[in-house]
Amino acid sequence: MSKLWGGRFAKGTDALVDEFNASLPFDQRLAAQDILGSQAWARGLVGAGVLTSAEADTIIAGLQQVGDELANGRFQFEPGDEDIHTAVERRLTEIVGAVGGKLHTGRSRNDQVATDFRLWLLEACDQLAEMLADLQTALVENAEANLNLPMPGYTHLQHAQPITWGHWVLSHFWPLVRDQERLAQVRQRTAVLPLGSGALAGTAFPIDRQALAAALGFAAISQNSLDGVSDRDFATDFLYTATMIGLHLSRLSEHLILFSSSEFGFVRLDDGYSTGSSLMPQKKNPDTLELTRGKSGRLLGNLVGLLTTLKGLPSSYDKDLQEDKEPVFDTFDTLSLIMPIMAGLFRTLTLRPERMAQQLEPNLLATDLADYLVKRGVPFRQAHHLVGEVVQLAENRGVPLTALTQADLQSISEEFGEGATAVFDIKASLSNRAIIGGTSPEALQIQLNAARQQIT
Ligand code: ARG
Repeated sequence: MSKLWGGRFAKGTDALVDEFNASLPFDQRLAAQDILGSQAWARGLVGAGVLTSAEADTIIAGLQQVGDELANGRFQFEPGDEDIHTAVERRLTEIVGAVGGKLHTGRSRNDQVATDFRLWLLEACDQLAEMLADLQTALVENAEANLNLPMPGYTHLQHAQPITWGHWVLSHFWPLVRDQERLAQVRQRTAVLPLGSGALAGTAFPIDRQALAAALGFAAISQNSLDGVSDRDFATDFLYTATMIGLHLSRLSEHLILFSSSEFGFVRLDDGYSTGSSLMPQKKNPDTLELTRGKSGRLLGNLVGLLTTLKGLPSSYDKDLQEDKEPVFDTFDTLSLIMPIMAGLFRTLTLRPERMAQQLEPNLLATDLADYLVKRGVPFRQAHHLVGEVVQLAENRGVPLTALTQADLQSISEEFGEGATAVFDIKASLSNRAIIGGTSPEALQIQLNAARQQIT
């Protein structure tokens, strides 16, 4: 089988080596980008005086045909097609003849693959940004519908203070805003054109790289040809950002799994987003959430895998870099499933306010009782201690805090005056936190408005 680089070899490669070396099984996904990049390169070669306009037209039309064959599945791959770049060039030459052999002038697969991969990732970032925005919209809508619905808030997964459902949902919205920012940064760093770097030293033909960048939708061109062919920071930035998205959704999933359990019962998943058990007829399992949680491990694995591949590579192209694509494709595919599923799950989620209300027990208001003392001039540390004694008294009697009388409180401290027991009011506790970021209806409305503005 004749190879692009076969000239200096006396015999062919071992069949296993061919298989080992090939990236075609996975880099076919870069076909459309490879065609676009090559068409732009052909135009660049006209500007550099390497191709006549007529030759470039022939090549560009031939590439169009190759692209069409690839897009509609009529493309016949040959055993010697090592990667998508080889396959496209081989087929181009079959179609247009010897002039096809001029296309690769001044170019290497090293700058070619880096260009294709960046082009692909730019599109992928745009798609993910859209899915993320839709998920953010689903969260905001869900938060708005139950903005002031009281529920227990947790620290250490223990009852802490009252919050509202809207507040809790929005606490999972804001991390996604930061993920959107990260995604935009990934896009910006990806939009740097390496084409023109050649194999490593830059091309010897006067190609207008700025024009190439503009034609392909890149915002800038790389400034060092060695760095141009070896930089994969954009890929690891992407994997990190995707891992963060996955991690945020994993934490959200974990909470929803708990909230949908019989013990909590705060939410009910729609049948369309849950699955059954093959053995136990009564089961309704949160598989979608469990898989979201589980797949975050895979996203992290892809990140760590590529970082490990890159560590210790000398600059310029090394074949190790061929390992960059599969983790990125896999991560993109994984997130492309997770995000719309999570959005759908939120859009169909049923809340069970009565179950939340059952958990709104008086201990959640112990801090409010301490705040009451503080407002009467008691130093907070002392107030904390006194309320601790109140809690202990109630616990010893086996009654809730609210069952204690004014006299009971005064047996612990004279500072518990008129109105001390009035703090045992969930609504008042929520309203007292009127600070930006807090739980009062006004603060929540401000937060909701701010959240809406973040959605692009
Ligand atoms: N299939 C290769 C990759 O994905 C293309 C670049 C090959 N370059 C080379 N010098 N062998 O990285």
